[in-house]
Amino acid sequence: MIKALLLSSVVGALTMVSGCSTSIAGQWLQQQSVEAYEPVVETTPEPQETSSIGSKEMDVLVEQGPLSPSGKSYGYYDSVEPTYVDGVLLVNKDYALPRSYGSGEDPEAYQALQKLQSAAWNAGYSLPMMSGFRSFDYQEELYNDYVAVDGVEKADTYSAWPGHSEHQTGLAFDVGWVNLQFAYTGAGKWLAAHAHEYGFIIRYPKGKENVTGYQYEPWHIRYLGTELAEKVYESGLCLEEYLGVA
Ligand code: DAL
Ligand code: ZN
Repeated sequence: MIKALLLSSVVGALTMVSGCSTSIAGQWLQQQSVEAYEPVVETTPEPQETSSIGSKEMDVLVEQGPLSPSGKSYGYYDSVEPTYVDGVLLVNKDYALPRSYGSGEDPEAYQALQKLQSAAWNAGYSLPMMSGFRSFDYQEELYNDYVAVDGVEKADTYSAWPGHSEHQTGLAFDVGWVNLQFAYTGAGKWLAAHAHEYGFIIRYPKGKENVTGYQYEPWHIRYLGTELAEKVYESGLCLEEYLGVA
């Protein structure tokens, strides 16, 4: 801009001096204008990095097809085997269930739940079952709905990827009120103090968020049987820590 203003002033001055705008002043301007342009250097473009992974890995991914929210291929969930640690079925962000696993609540766990609900009722509390068995496909719908509302990062703190939800085991239940305030209610306190007597643990305890990978869920209980549930409760550890896989 400044260059353009200077040029036009100089041209104006030259025009006045020479009285001829096309000959001397015109030639001078042409010369200056050519020099004023940045030279265009023709270069061969550098090959662009299109992916941070190697082409072989990319081929594998393409063969695997679309990825599940866990980052694994959906095909992975056709053949993955359930993981048992010391006889305990372990499902978390690292250990998955096959897509076809489960068809309903585990009968023993469901019976234990009913006993727990009766005991709570007799103590003056109501612990309705809000969620029990959830299939792979249903969990996928739920997870995607949460992502649509809260985004991936937040949803990952409270909703499991399909294939990674304990609800698919048929051994986990959400009871009472699916809200953090539940922990401060009489029913929530009763559950925390007595769940182990009926074979359940609070699966995602407060203070263990970095181990379980989930926020505190005072309503989510996991059936382990009374013997193991008592031991885990007394240990003060979360399941991953107790099983030595944290
Ligand atoms: N809310 C627990 C982590 C689940 O989605 O299974
Ligand atoms: Zn739950």
